[in-house]
Amino acid sequence: MAKKFYIETLGCAMNVRDSEHMIAELSYKEGYEQTETLEEADLILINTCSVREKPVHKLFSEIGVFNKRKKDGAKIGVCGCTASHLGEEIIKKAPFVDFVLGARNVSKITEVLHKPKAVEVDIDYDESQYAFGDFRSSPYKAYVNISIGCDKQCTFCIVPHTRGEEVSIPSDLIVKEVEKAAKTGAKEIFLLGQNVNNYGRRFSGEHPKMNFTNLLRLVSEVDGVERIRFTSPHPLHMDDEFLEEFANNPKICKSMHMPLQSGSTKILKAMKRGYTKEWFLDRALKLRQMVPDVSISTDIIVAFPGESEEDFEDTMDVIEKVRFEQIFSFKYSPRPLTPAKDYEDQIPDEIGSQRLTRLQSRHNEILDEMKSERVGKVVDVYFEELRPGGKVAGRSDNNVMVQVDGSEELLGKIVTVKITDAGRLSNFGVVIA
Ligand code: 5AD
Ligand code: SF4
Repeated sequence: MAKKFYIETLGCAMNVRDSEHMIAELSYKEGYEQTETLEEADLILINTCSVREKPVHKLFSEIGVFNKRKKDGAKIGVCGCTASHLGEEIIKKAPFVDFVLGARNVSKITEVLHKPKAVEVDIDYDESQYAFGDFRSSPYKAYVNISIGCDKQCTFCIVPHTRGEEVSIPSDLIVKEVEKAAKTGAKEIFLLGQNVNNYGRRFSGEHPKMNFTNLLRLVSEVDGVERIRFTSPHPLHMDDEFLEEFANNPKICKSMHMPLQSGSTKILKAMKRGYTKEWFLDRALKLRQMVPDVSISTDIIVAFPGESEEDFEDTMDVIEKVRFEQIFSFKYSPRPLTPAKDYEDQIPDEIGSQRLTRLQSRHNEILDEMKSERVGKVVDVYFEELRPGGKVAGRSDNNVMVQVDGSEELLGKIVTVKITDAGRLSNFGVVIA
């Protein structure tokens, strides 16, 4: 009988793709099969996130539970960003852990599996040209990495310390991945990197000069690719050329993630984000002008050290002006290895909570205003998921989630739908073509 592995993935899309890579390596090189039942697994993996403190705290209780529930002889591996950051400390604190595998070392999964108490967390390791096996959790869309690591030094962020310096993946390898995915039916390609529109900053070998806009053009020329999404771009690198390609290339989905972090120029400076409130507003409003149907999402941190009421009002002002379709908002969480944790004027937790509530309530009001504007709109939906009650769900080009009555025959198809009922995040519609 084949050996089985169980995997839990926390964090961002990059981690989802890293898990897919590990699944591919385990399946093709070691003959493992995936199971959803922890108790029958021979190998239990947790792919961790370290961006905020809470999930890191929870890690040890969670692996403690795994250890109690696992079958005799099953191995436990801790992978991902917390693995990079804590390294052997994990085995010291939880001696039952069999190996620790960093976010930049996932290609070594089949090695560490056979080395008792292995700790592979080298953040200088170059995985940018490693040919991973094929595995995708969805047949309809394919995540494709375009770079590893991050060269920015945002003062709140631990990621540069867990994923190392930024290296772009050679464009011919990216195009090959995209061709493979498109051939097997993935109409949608999701390009991934910590900072995608900084593509081409550094390659590990010889490579012709190339930027993200050039890469978008290359990918959109691949046969079978109908939709391109990407995450995360950085507002600083949103030059006119990039915005024009985004607006004019029909294959690029009209949904942009623009991580604001703060609306105050003073706080943005303390965060080392490299742009001002005015630059961000200029880019976002230009985008709205160029692509009237665009949907813009963002990440916001409240209560960064030194954030005054006035600074917070600047953030509220940006959400009024941009009217984001989606906001991922967080209370600042001091992280090890980051300069901001030592800044004076850390903000008390209650103030952070109050600001977060205010931001989220106002954003919900904005969403309620926007949802009625959606009713009656006609959108092209790429169906990818069956839902209970005889429904099928998919996303429009501009990232609106829509459900219609239907079944398997709609899966993998792009179909025109009229929105009949709109909620904040989920909408209902009828197929019209
Ligand atoms: N505290 C709170 N939020 C953070 N993020 C990154 N680091 C921190 C931190 N120390 C948020 C940012 C980033 C998102 C992925 O997580 O908003 O864009
Ligand atoms: Fe972190 Fe900033 Fe890099 Fe994003 S761009 S991963 S926030 S350092």
